[in-house]
Amino acid sequence: MIVLSCSKNNAVTPIPVPESSTEQPAPQPIAPPEPTVPAYTSNDPGFKLIEGADCLACHKIDAKVIGPSYQDVAEKYTKADIDQLAQKIIEGGKGNWGDIPMTPHEGLSKDDAKQMVKYILSLKK
Ligand code: HEC
Repeated sequence: MIVLSCSKNNAVTPIPVPESSTEQPAPQPIAPPEPTVPAYTSNDPGFKLIEGADCLACHKIDAKVIGPSYQDVAEKYTKADIDQLAQKIIEGGKGNWGDIPMTPHEGLSKDDAKQMVKYILSLKK
């Protein structure tokens, strides 16, 4: 005797779908704000002085503009030259890098100028 199984349950019972109102929106990852710092910045007091003066109009850290890059200046000199370089910033002048003169910065104190030079020399690679 053969028993035929007969599935009467061909109808697919739909699976209840939850109401969309109960769905939580996927949490959006919070993107960190884009930093707006310039390419070069430092908390070094010498850098702050340079940033506050007109130096960066003619000097970049890593590229020659009107004046030599500060990295090139750092390569050329040592701590023994701090005094002389500070004086040069105050008095201006030319000849060490070419015929374009650096403008004098007479309002600058020697101490501030030295602070700037110390920062510049710290860029030695
Ligand atoms: C008008 C453009 C200009 C400005 C502004 C300027 N410089 Fe210069 N700087 C030059 C030039 C040009 C030279 C190369 C001078 C030379 O050939 O001796 C130079 C050279 C230097 C040197 C190397 C000096 C040497 O004898 O090798 C230092 C250090 C320096 N600048 C720092 C500064 C600082 C710090 C400031 C801001 C207070 C500043 N400069 C502002 C154009 C400028």
